[in-house]
Amino acid sequence: MILPILCVKCKNQPAETSAVEGRLKLCPKCFIEYFERRVKESVQKFHMFTHEERVAVAVSGGKDSGALLRSLKRAFPNLDIVALHINLGINGYSEHCESKVRELVKEECVELNVFKLSEEGFTIDDFRKTLYKNEVCSPCGIVKRHILDRMALEVGAKVLATGHNLDDILSTLLHTFFSGDFVQLVRLKPVLMPQHPYQTKKVKPLIKMSEFEDYQYALYTEIPIRELNCPHSIGTKSREGKKILESLSKGNPNFKYQTLSLFLKKLIPMIEDKVKQPNLMSCIRCGFPSSTEVCAYCKRVEMVKRVGKRA
Ligand code: AMP
Ligand code: FES
Ligand code: ZN
Repeated sequence: MILPILCVKCKNQPAETSAVEGRLKLCPKCFIEYFERRVKESVQKFHMFTHEERVAVAVSGGKDSGALLRSLKRAFPNLDIVALHINLGINGYSEHCESKVRELVKEECVELNVFKLSEEGFTIDDFRKTLYKNEVCSPCGIVKRHILDRMALEVGAKVLATGHNLDDILSTLLHTFFSGDFVQLVRLKPVLMPQHPYQTKKVKPLIKMSEFEDYQYALYTEIPIRELNCPHSIGTKSREGKKILESLSKGNPNFKYQTLSLFLKKLIPMIEDKVKQPNLMSCIRCGFPSSTEVCAYCKRVEMVKRVGKRA
């Protein structure tokens, strides 16, 4: 008879899963505790927010932001949390995401603000008619950043938390490093302070949680998450980046944590002062921060509406 491996924490239940890249064999109950404790430690270590602050949590319907909302609610039960969701108008996908977000906030008893992009007169699908063709992830990222800033401002939140996880951060780190984009690289920090009156403090409480851990937490705590992938995400740079990350960390369970530590403790302090962040002004159309007269968002809106009129 093969005896089950016991959980290294409680030493009582069979270890069903693992954390920290396979190094900690845990039972589901101890895994959930581990996850929530680690999220809490990251929030405190990087001074992401205080108990008095209103925190907006960007929830997409996916496992990461779902795990973020649930773990923050459990780790900080008295925190004033408001969930923000953008319905991007992606056919066969966005309505499904919104319904999962609605289920989750109901379970968590959290206030929800939904913004339907169609109210702006366009959707993410409409960008396929522009020069972006089938690569709409780039304008989608710009749209999401702008709308989330706007929503956070409207609900009076000083902090905006997103579900970026360890794998997201490291794969983007590799990409920005090799393309020499050090301005974007510095923006991967766990906390970004506002540089403009319309900006909120941006925080990434899942910076130390891997994609696998987010998925396990979502599974064990039964978070309602989307069952579909975005139809526009096939073959994107972020997927490619994650494949490279996986092959680099094969056989070295420490790789991801060592790289994160190197990034936070060595690279950032070394380059932060040397990398000149663009001087921010206010966009002449929307008033939101921009490095040029008209911001990236307003330029994309103009582009997508121009093709809309021609069609
Ligand atoms: P992504 O850019 O899709 O990798 O998502 C990164 C993070 O942005 C997610 O973990 C969420 O916190 C947030 N986010 C993405 N899409 C949405 C959305 N439609 N509504 C609200 N927040 C979102
Ligand atoms: Fe933005 Fe898929 S969610 S293109
Ligand atoms: Zn603008």
